[in-house]
Amino acid sequence: MSKGLEDVVAGTSAITFIDGVRGRLIYAGYDISDLAEHSSYEEVAYLLWHLRLPKPGEFESFAADLRSAGGLPLGVLEGIDDLELECDTMDALEMAIAALGIYDDPRLDTLGKAASIASKIGTIVPYIHAHKTGAKHHEPRKDLSFASNLLYLLNGREPDAFSEKLMNVLLVLHADHELNASTFTARVVASTLSDMYSSVNAAIAALKGPLHGGANERVVEMVERIGSPEGVPRFLAEKFANKEKIMGFGHRVYKTLDPRARILRGYAGRIAATRAERNDLAILDRLADEMVKQKNIYPNVDFYSGFVLHHLGVPTYLFTPFFAVGRTPGWLAHIMEQYSNNRIIRPIAEYTGPRDERYVPIGLRGGSITP
Ligand SMILES: CC(C)(COP(=O)(O)OP(=O)(O)OC[C@H]1O[C@@H](n2cnc3c(N)ncnc32)[C@H](O)[C@@H]1OP(=O)(O)O)[C@@H](O)C(=O)NCCC(=O)NCCS
Repeated sequence: MSKGLEDVVAGTSAITFIDGVRGRLIYAGYDISDLAEHSSYEEVAYLLWHLRLPKPGEFESFAADLRSAGGLPLGVLEGIDDLELECDTMDALEMAIAALGIYDDPRLDTLGKAASIASKIGTIVPYIHAHKTGAKHHEPRKDLSFASNLLYLLNGREPDAFSEKLMNVLLVLHADHELNASTFTARVVASTLSDMYSSVNAAIAALKGPLHGGANERVVEMVERIGSPEGVPRFLAEKFANKEKIMGFGHRVYKTLDPRARILRGYAGRIAATRAERNDLAILDRLADEMVKQKNIYPNVDFYSGFVLHHLGVPTYLFTPFFAVGRTPGWLAHIMEQYSNNRIIRPIAEYTGPRDERYVPIGLRGGSITP
């Protein structure tokens, strides 16, 4: 028995490899640094679903299909329109994906459904934002890349080339991560031969938790609370004294710096333009230094992603939904891989309860409590 299934090999997969000791992340053979620098969301989605890079003609038609599938069925739009404005964005996302399962084109084959879900989740999240804030909703644009369209739907204007690049980097870095909690959840649900929408929704539910996708929102709150780099040692001392975890640090698999955090730190240094951004980055760097020095615990992807998302105009409460948008190609790749060689995932538990209790009728059980 391994608590939290640490180090348990729970299946085979040809999608993603993590070398936790050397700090390497590989999608279908390609190093994440290479992909972040040279590739795009669309190309990485193709890579994860087909386990090879597309040839020129294949890329154009795949990207065009993804970019043209973003329009939402009326039932999904109306479902979001009916939500309380104060609703939790991840709850709204789960509702919308469930509605998509009901209203999406039933004639789609497996890859068609994957393209539909991956594309539409990129419209759903900005639509939820527009609903909650009263901001104008824009129709998705087929002439823009996925990254560019996502920022266009959020901010109402086409991003410049560097912002598009940054969003692409974020999406590529989040696209897959082996059997993390949400992906494993998706595979468990898929292994019952449940449908793709339900499997993705289960993954979204797992991602919502602060130990998984919710961590970057907490990092931003932490930086705000600390205020200045000089405040870091006292903040950490208090946290350590209370035995609290520091968000954005630690990882089940990486025993060194998460390569995604390294790449994002590089971009963070390039984009820190305002005094407030430089101060936030100095706080992050000081936190990273102290954590490594004092605890030998390294930053993970969530540590710098909030900083980059803020720079792109993404509000804090949308961080986890944006993570979901980025991770969707990976979830879908794993769901399809599970379907292709399925056996229901059903481990066993080490039972720690009693075995020989005798049933006593309720009237004969002592110690009644008067309400
Ligand atoms: C990611 C995470 C859930 C992995 O959990 P895990 O593999 O079960 O690791 P554990 O919680 O068992 O941690 C192992 C040790 O490192 C410490 N540790 C791990 N992450 C820590 C953190 N963020 N802050 C402080 N200490 C941490 C634990 O306290 C534990 O110490 P101990 O052995 O003295 O008790 C965990 O590191 C965490 O909660 N991090 C913060 C949330 C976060 O950033 N999540 C995003 C992940 S991408």
